[in-house]
Amino acid sequence: MTDLRSYVRDIPDYPKPGILFRDITPLLADPDALTAAVDAMAAPFLDADIDIVAAAEARGFIFGTPLAMRLGAGFVPIRKPGKLPFDLHSFAYQLEYGTDELQIHVDGIKPGQRVLVVDDLLATGGTVEACLRLLEKCDAKIVGCSFLIHLEALGGEARMEPYDVHSVLRYGGDDSEQE
Ligand code: PRP
Ligand code: MG
Repeated sequence: MTDLRSYVRDIPDYPKPGILFRDITPLLADPDALTAAVDAMAAPFLDADIDIVAAAEARGFIFGTPLAMRLGAGFVPIRKPGKLPFDLHSFAYQLEYGTDELQIHVDGIKPGQRVLVVDDLLATGGTVEACLRLLEKCDAKIVGCSFLIHLEALGGEARMEPYDVHSVLRYGGDDSEQE
């Protein structure tokens, strides 16, 4: 079995001093690791009757589309302002400094459609929380969320209740945890 964690490169002090960046580009560049990552992210949801996968730009798109294809589902993009051309739902959220905003087409999800939210990384949970609020505005049936990496020390999971959270690689304070 592919050791996915060995394809994640640790970059100290990026983008700021004190931050340890988990760089997934070596994993993306390896055909077997990329396939194994998509398979592992999809596995808990193969029988969940997912209608559509939702993911936020940019890194969410990398995994969202192949997961949709693996699950026999469609894909809906969640984007930063100024990128989507039709009528929109918007959700603004706090960053460490300032605010950010994500948007979805009002008809991106039909009411009651079963949605899986996908992203490469769960850190503080701000991004995925914005996605969840947008999907709720669409009256979606949110089945769960699937991440490649979960940085457990940052508490993002608490912002996702009551939804199911699945992650393939978990990094705790001592970096010891991995599924
Ligand atoms: C990164 C990552 C997640 C988010 C996780 O995206 O791809 O979407 O941060 O952090 P959070 O849980 O604290 O919100 P980023 O905003 O850096 O943009 P990108 O995907 O466009 O690279
Ligand atoms: Mg992102």
